[in-house]
Amino acid sequence: MTQPTPEPKRLPVHVGIIMDGNGRWASQRGLPRLEGHRRGAERLIEVVDAAIDHGVRCLTLFAFSAENWKRPAEEVGGLFKLGEWVLRLHLHRLSKRHVRFSTIGDITAMPEFIRIPLEEAVAASKDNTGFELVIALNYGSRQETVKAAKQLAADAVAGKINPDAIQWDDLANRLETHGLPDPDLIIRTSGESRLSNFLLLQAAYAEIVITPTYWPDFGAEAFGAALQEYAKRERRYGMTGEQIRPTTQQS
Ligand code: IPE
Ligand code: IPE
Ligand code: MG
Repeated sequence: MTQPTPEPKRLPVHVGIIMDGNGRWASQRGLPRLEGHRRGAERLIEVVDAAIDHGVRCLTLFAFSAENWKRPAEEVGGLFKLGEWVLRLHLHRLSKRHVRFSTIGDITAMPEFIRIPLEEAVAASKDNTGFELVIALNYGSRQETVKAAKQLAADAVAGKINPDAIQWDDLANRLETHGLPDPDLIIRTSGESRLSNFLLLQAAYAEIVITPTYWPDFGAEAFGAALQEYAKRERRYGMTGEQIRPTTQQS
């Protein structure tokens, strides 16, 4: 870890990562796309360790989107096998670091060979408090929002909630991320400037850092550089810069 850790108030509590560019990393080298995914999976633990070491409290990794089912079946199957391999390989280490493990997205649609170990890992780590690792699997922000809206509608019909009184928190509490702080920083690798249906509502005021690095080349150093970039940003939440910096000396 050669990048210094920003001072605590300039450190994000929750970081989300859109891990992109495995396919291009592979094709640049004349390798099959799955080889890019394999190399990307190998790097994953390094970034988790870096997040813990820097003092970040929560990391959400976008591993498979609800739209990624549109890819060739062979690639989808290969991704799930890699997911299961990574989980088996690192679970012990993560539990030693007191990591609480959870998922967002519809994992009921995942094959059993990955769904069962995932559910076991979530159950086994539920009392850990050291670090929150969230894997977004078969996740889509719009799908999550529709599900929450359906719950709100059902509660309204059942008379449990008055539609006129609905606030943002009522919706947020029905999202799969309920209980987690909103992401402060979203990192996207591979240079694409889009969110691709990742935490759209939760990221309303997140800082976004886009790096040209492909995910298989993104490690502890690059994660530290993203934290440094975040530390330079001024978050305003609709206010003016002067309101955000009330201690600035006026002449
Ligand atoms: C990210 O890499 C992995 C997943 C989306 C599952 P890609 O496979 O999207 O790589 P590119 O964008 O084609 O390079
Ligand atoms: C987003 O990457 C999904 C994940 C990283 C899991 P994609 O590669 O699927 O996104 P698009 O299609 O380029 O927007
Ligand atoms: Mg991609």
